[in-house]
Amino acid sequence: MSIISTFCKKGGVGKSTFIGFLAHFYAKQGKKVLIISADDQNSIFKIFGASDKIYEEQDNFFEYLFTGQAELGDVLIPVRDNLYLIKTLNTEQLSYQLTLNRSQEKAIRSIINEYSTYFDYIFVDFPPSSNRLSEVLLDLSDYIFIVVGLDILGVDGFFNTIQYFIDRDLDLSKIRYIVPNGFSANRRAPKISLEILTNQAKDFTKNAEVLPPLHDKSIIKNLQEKGISVYDDVELERYDRDQREILRKDLAELFKLINVD
Ligand SMILES: Nc1ncnc2c1ncn2[C@@H]1O[C@H](COP(=O)(O)OP(=O)(O)OP(=O)(O)O)[C@@H](O)[C@H]1O
Ligand SMILES: [Mg+2]
Repeated sequence: MSIISTFCKKGGVGKSTFIGFLAHFYAKQGKKVLIISADDQNSIFKIFGASDKIYEEQDNFFEYLFTGQAELGDVLIPVRDNLYLIKTLNTEQLSYQLTLNRSQEKAIRSIINEYSTYFDYIFVDFPPSSNRLSEVLLDLSDYIFIVVGLDILGVDGFFNTIQYFIDRDLDLSKIRYIVPNGFSANRRAPKISLEILTNQAKDFTKNAEVLPPLHDKSIIKNLQEKGISVYDDVELERYDRDQREILRKDLAELFKLINVD
């Protein structure tokens, strides 16, 4: 079992999108997959068209596990075959408790370890902001993916992320993959950003591989707006169907390069 995280201190760069792709890809192959949302926005639910599940019940949030008000079965929300999500309500509050009370940190560790017997992969979807909960979950991760937007602010976000790891004494060698996102062959800016990123990665994240960039594709937004995952076999109009096919092929090539076992 592996714990896999997507992280970046910059918002809106594609962390949730990428984790949704990879998690569903493994679930389709018959692996048991859990995504823990460490982001109060719970955008991973929207990606799978499950926004209605975010506010469905009052006591099935990640936080309730630690106060003993819920059990694993209560908080797991199935969204696809083999694919489950856990939502969060108030990570600030939980982080505050974690800072005050170290035994809570142990509780998180032992609960996540307990999950490892049920799942092949546990993914954690982080917000761009960070708190004590982020630190604990990053520390528990086996593989960290840094998703970087291919523009000048995105590359700054990568640098801030490295700085954050250093400041908080987090293990930089856990950063195993860098995912450049938003490439476009006919624009100069993404190419330049990719070059800068590749050089920075060589200096700061020696254990990480910079993956081939994910292209800026309107099909990604279109599907997300409808709550359809790229691996859902729903009927689409011809143009979207063709674009989905191309995206699936691109992702298959990309995922071949990833080893998180
Ligand atoms: N390669 C891409 N091509 C086109 N649109 C994309 C691509 N990747 C992500 N997007 C879009 O960008 C937006 C932000 O993506 P996403 O929510 O995955 O980012 P995030 O890093 O998780 O954001 P946050 O920091 O808020 O958690 C979404 O509307 C998504 O559809
Ligand atoms: Mg997100």
